[in-house]
Amino acid sequence: MEKYSHDIVIVGAGLAGLRAAVAAVEVNDKLDIAVISKLHPLRSHSVCAQGGTAAVMRDKDSFELHAWDTVKGADYLADQDVVEFFVQRAPREIVKMDHYGCPWSRTPDGKIDQRPFGGHSYPRACFAADMTGFHEMHALYGKATSYDKVKFYDEWFATSLLVENNTIVGLTAIDLKTGEMHAFQAKAVIIATGGHERIYEFTTFSHTTTGDGMAMAYRVGVPLEDMEFVQFHPTGLVPSGVLITEGARGEGGYLLNANGERFMKRYAPEKMELAPRDVVSRAEQTEILEGRAFTGPYGPYIALDLRHLGEEKINERLPLIRDVAIKLGGVDPVKEVIPIRPAAHYSMGGIKANIRTETPISGLYAAGECSCLSLHGANRLGTNSTAECLVFGAVAGEEAAKYVASKSFKEMPHEKIAAEEKRVFDEVLGSEGGESVPALRDEMRRLMNAKAWIYRKGDDLESALKEVRELKKRFKNIKVEDKGKAFNTGFTAALQLDFMLDLAEVTVVSALARTESRGAHSRLDYPKRDDEKWLVHTLAYYTTDGPKLEYQPVTITKWQPAARKY
Ligand code: FUM
Repeated sequence: MEKYSHDIVIVGAGLAGLRAAVAAVEVNDKLDIAVISKLHPLRSHSVCAQGGTAAVMRDKDSFELHAWDTVKGADYLADQDVVEFFVQRAPREIVKMDHYGCPWSRTPDGKIDQRPFGGHSYPRACFAADMTGFHEMHALYGKATSYDKVKFYDEWFATSLLVENNTIVGLTAIDLKTGEMHAFQAKAVIIATGGHERIYEFTTFSHTTTGDGMAMAYRVGVPLEDMEFVQFHPTGLVPSGVLITEGARGEGGYLLNANGERFMKRYAPEKMELAPRDVVSRAEQTEILEGRAFTGPYGPYIALDLRHLGEEKINERLPLIRDVAIKLGGVDPVKEVIPIRPAAHYSMGGIKANIRTETPISGLYAAGECSCLSLHGANRLGTNSTAECLVFGAVAGEEAAKYVASKSFKEMPHEKIAAEEKRVFDEVLGSEGGESVPALRDEMRRLMNAKAWIYRKGDDLESALKEVRELKKRFKNIKVEDKGKAFNTGFTAALQLDFMLDLAEVTVVSALARTESRGAHSRLDYPKRDDEKWLVHTLAYYTTDGPKLEYQPVTITKWQPAARKY
């Protein structure tokens, strides 16, 4: 085992991680910064972000309005100080991205163009056609790699955080090329590893986004906050789940049931298809459950109709969607409707962190989807996520850079490193049981789809919890067939499943405890929002017997909870 030392180690090279690296160098260009990623950065899930990045860019829009839309969209569970800070910092990020080379779509007079998105009362999604994340990532990667002091460890898999006296001292990671584990010594660590929606079967998520950072933080005692709030995106392509951007509805697309009806008029008469995602996904699921969906070889589906937009507009504004629909859905949206249904898309919950992205462990920061600051409360508005990655990625980089200025490296905890080697190589890779990792993973995903989906019930969640715990037991008896060293994907799949099982358990335990319906968490047995009891954040702490829950109040600055109508 070799030891590497860097002032700041960033885990994850998506939008938040890359933005953090650039921000840290901009604070202090003498710092030595590492970015560890299990993929090449340009294969991070951020590349899949399509529709846009929200920011106030016009006089007719305002910070007040963006903040209010976000708080209402969040069903009042967002911390409003975080929301206010976020909306003010977002425009700066759009301009920075422009300077880094992001090819924003433009209006005829050359301004950065903006399109409507669900729950926003002004068209404030800046976009680069329907490949916004792809272009943002290329611009940021170009910027980050222009600094000599940022070293990239591509295809390294971080396995654990090393913490002594409630202070981060480093982490362990496997170089996937050699299969060897190494220790990284760091004065600060920023986790930016994305969400965990691969715990579900039908999801817009890349196969690689498995919530590793969330699970690593949880295992060293950082609470996971509000994990019951999982966002279901209304338009996952059938049968793959690949994202069909909400930008398609922003450009004027309709949702139709099998009777040819624009059914959103019954659920959100004012906003229609551009209601927030929790509202639209519930509407679709209700259409499916009540038998008004189309039936197809891959189960029921809803139709997304873009035909009236015309070929020219589709080609200019939604070229990726057309390509994806043709290649993966077998339909050309210029001539045919696109088969879609709700897909697990985003985690409002994550690693508990404050407005400065600090976790409860000194020197450990979290930014982007893996974190919960809490900006999105019970339901995130579309395009607030890429904006969050940029705004709070930058904050994490700035804060970590300031923090390390007065810190020295700490002694590495050799016993903990040895214990991690034992866990990873003896207990996971070396396990000689009879259980197959892909089979356990598929069971987890199926049960999460069946029992912790859009509409939830106490008895289903109880049964999901029992099954997840059973899977955790069976995981101890796995066998990774390939014992090879180089790029052993069976081995990384096992490590990822181990993380995902913890996250599935936290999601279900948090959902079971919250006996109300709020935002994306809809309990059929508790259909009402209950501000008396549940205007609180859930905090799930790791224990060997499963998550222990605590609660903390929501920060309200200006907007008192009110009825939420669209
Ligand atoms: O629909 C989309 O383009 C997704 C955007 C988002 O999740 O913010």
